[in-house]
Amino acid sequence: MAAACRDDGENTRFPFLATVRYLVAIVVTALAAIVVVMVVIVVHRPVEMGFQSYGYVQTQDYWWSSWTGDNVTYVYEPAKEVQMLIVLEALNPSGRGQIQANITFIHVIDMPGGASSLVQFCGYKLETPASFHLQPHSFHRYRRWVSIKRQGSLQYLYDKHHHDGSLGFPVMVVVETSYKPAHSETIINKTYHCWPLTFLRGEADTPAAGEIACKTTEEIGYGVTWQSLPLLPSSPPPRAQPPF
Ligand SMILES: *[C@@H]1O[C@H](CO)[C@@H](O)[C@H](O)[C@H]1NC(C)=O
Ligand SMILES: *[C@@H]1O[C@H](CO)[C@@H](O)[C@H](O)[C@H]1NC(C)=O
Ligand SMILES: *[C@@H]1O[C@H](CO)[C@@H](O)[C@H](O)[C@H]1NC(C)=O
Repeated sequence: MAAACRDDGENTRFPFLATVRYLVAIVVTALAAIVVVMVVIVVHRPVEMGFQSYGYVQTQDYWWSSWTGDNVTYVYEPAKEVQMLIVLEALNPSGRGQIQANITFIHVIDMPGGASSLVQFCGYKLETPASFHLQPHSFHRYRRWVSIKRQGSLQYLYDKHHHDGSLGFPVMVVVETSYKPAHSETIINKTYHCWPLTFLRGEADTPAAGEIACKTTEEIGYGVTWQSLPLLPSSPPPRAQPPF
């Protein structure tokens, strides 16, 4: 009908159009504001390194050995050596440039009485620091077999965990690092605490227990301290010869 072609002005013909325009303008403005906020957050997000673990420190060795003294009696004693596998992943979540990093020290800490009694049974300084470059949004896997040979450590494992062999026991792995974010000349020292992990005797292909995020001292809120084991001679003293 001709009436339909009369030009009454679009506001009167389609009064809702004004509302739609208004709404679109609000949405566009809101989106623009969100983009600005996100850019500001990303630009100000510090380039920080993170660490995570897959949940275990693994060994394929028994930390005790047994032999038959006679036909019926088993005699147990600490193992001579235990190899354990340490696997950690360094992360660069910020997406704002690469990180140059070193792992300098690793501590493996038992928690016999929960978080209040910590005992380091293995700690090693990396003679040559594990150095790596972390690209944005990438990770670096640190994977190393470490041999426990110190008599004190082996004796400790035997005394405290001789019977936990099949189940494993909870440990904390502490990683000392130094790193330098992109666009910075400052070297940052940071210590990461990976907990709770399980010290487990088993096959190498144990499925991950999930991603365990390692916490920095700042995140924990206090400096974590632990006892060290007394230094024992690295091999048992020679047995006295029988006097005949
Ligand atoms: C061990 O068992 C064998 C036979 O099975 C026997 O001849 C031997 O005397 C036993 N030794 C001890 C120390 O009991
Ligand atoms: C990492 O270690 C190497 C070799 O010791 C050293 O030259 C470098 O400055 C260290 N980098 C950081 C970020 O600590
Ligand atoms: C970082 O640690 C190194 C030794 O690993 C030390 O020489 C340096 O002074 C430390 N830097 C800071 C800022 O604590």
